[in-house]
Amino acid sequence: MKILMVCLGNICRSPIAEGVLQHKAKLAGLDWIVDSAGTNGLYNGEAPHLLSQKVSKANGIDISHQQSRQLTKLDFSKYDKLYAMANDVLAYMKEIGQEKFDSEKTSLFLDELYPGEHKNVPDPWYGNEDGYVKVFDLIERTCDSIIKNHVEKIKK
Ligand code: 4NP
Repeated sequence: MKILMVCLGNICRSPIAEGVLQHKAKLAGLDWIVDSAGTNGLYNGEAPHLLSQKVSKANGIDISHQQSRQLTKLDFSKYDKLYAMANDVLAYMKEIGQEKFDSEKTSLFLDELYPGEHKNVPDPWYGNEDGYVKVFDLIERTCDSIIKNHVEKIKK
């Protein structure tokens, strides 16, 4: 399974989500490829935000090798599942995907933890380290749910 995590800049939230889910999937013995992208393309080629790197590293996850890239139409064909970090991201994904946007395989990331609540992962970009710690915790709990929901589904 190929999964794409998407936020606006691909430097704060989705790089953490990529690192955490890839790590947890490996531990769970799942052969998943996890990647991330941003809708705005403003940081193409840049490493994740230093605070995203710091809080990930403090939790045993190295995301320093990642490079920001912009979401493309093709991504909707390349990936089996695409997660939007927030409702504004989802709207931009529809614009980029055009006729390739696939609502069957695209959903809000936090809907895995809080089904049907359509919540956003807050954007830590304008805040301090505490915001990144909170975002990491939310992402970690959601990645646990993604794996749990997947395992329950394949057991049925
Ligand atoms: P991200 O955070 O979407 O979690 O990577 C942001 C980073 C930069 C900007 C917006 C969000 N920006 O507009 O510059």
